[in-house]
Amino acid sequence: MHNIRKITDDIIYLGCSDRRLCLFESAYPVKDGMSYNSYLINDEKTVLLDTVDKTCAEQFYENLNAALGERNLDYIVVQHMEPDHGALLEEVVKAHPGVKIVCTQKTVAMIKQFFNFDIDSHAVVVKEGDTLNTGRHELKFIMAPMVHWPEVMVTYDSASGILFSADAFGSFGAINGNLFDSEVNWKHDYLDEARRYYTNIVGKYGLQVQMLLKKAAELDIKMICPLHGLMIRENIDLLVEKYNRWSTYTPEEDSVMIAYSSVYGGTESAVSLLAAKLADKGVKNIKMFDVSMTHHSFVLAEAFRYSHIVFATTTYNAGIFESMECLLHSIVAHNLQNRKYVLIQNGSWAPTCGGLMRELLEKLKGTEILDDTIAIKSTLKEEQLAGVDNVVNTIVNSLGM
Ligand code: FEO
Repeated sequence: MHNIRKITDDIIYLGCSDRRLCLFESAYPVKDGMSYNSYLINDEKTVLLDTVDKTCAEQFYENLNAALGERNLDYIVVQHMEPDHGALLEEVVKAHPGVKIVCTQKTVAMIKQFFNFDIDSHAVVVKEGDTLNTGRHELKFIMAPMVHWPEVMVTYDSASGILFSADAFGSFGAINGNLFDSEVNWKHDYLDEARRYYTNIVGKYGLQVQMLLKKAAELDIKMICPLHGLMIRENIDLLVEKYNRWSTYTPEEDSVMIAYSSVYGGTESAVSLLAAKLADKGVKNIKMFDVSMTHHSFVLAEAFRYSHIVFATTTYNAGIFESMECLLHSIVAHNLQNRKYVLIQNGSWAPTCGGLMRELLEKLKGTEILDDTIAIKSTLKEEQLAGVDNVVNTIVNSLGM
């Protein structure tokens, strides 16, 4: 059964959600599922904005057929050729052989990589600022390279004030009936997953996101329709403000996140003491993660959020304990900048992971290692408490408290 929804009088939501998916992109746990959004503009010309992931094919075809009725599809705008949006392109073209595909030159090349149909006879190649008039609507195409792939563009409809934003402003999480942020407690229930989506999917490309934000600032945006997650109409300013922070690697929270791994509890005991002492000094909203228990995508999102980060881990096979090494590689890969770190190492006979952690983090712009003097041999000892107090004071001073 089709499940099409009205965004405006003549813009229809065709997307669908997958709640059985374990790992989005085979990488990210999606505890609340995942939505793949697609839109149809039912104007004098009919325009489809992107398709969906192949897991949702059946629902999508039912939706598209219901939304079109007896009409033919005139245009498909391919904003992003990643298969979570472009997987069904060839099938749609087969069903509508006269359709024109509006996309960037880079997208044409990618379509050839993914498919074997004759894209050249369908392609209408657009570049920055080009427009497509469909009757009542005029679509303006805005290039957004590396948000999140090089071929990406977004689309602004001046008639409705909708920015179709591709991956930008998207989120992990299925759509549960409510389509719009104004219908849910978005800040409380959805912002965290929007942050985790941003940081993990496009966090590396802050500069490119900044370029897109500058272009978006010129537009009168009444609603954002991304390719994942809810349509945003009530929290546009807040989300843009968050994107400004995330893309400039500016923390949201002046406080401390402690991420640790602990094989037999010695490291955990030390960081628990550190956290308690920080709290006693008045530090609020401290967060702690055992990185062997919490997937690194969640910890990465919090690392983007916090100003001060403590990493504490064990030396393992003369290196960094595996789950911590995985997190640190993720943080480096996602280009987190301008953070203040404390590093604590443990090693029952030869603690070496502190230096290795430093080596990784110093690859990042603006890294400041506040302290790396605590070296635990199995368990923290009484004579090391003064060292813990020193670290607490260093952090508190750095927080300006
Ligand atoms: Fe949702 Fe980059 O694809």
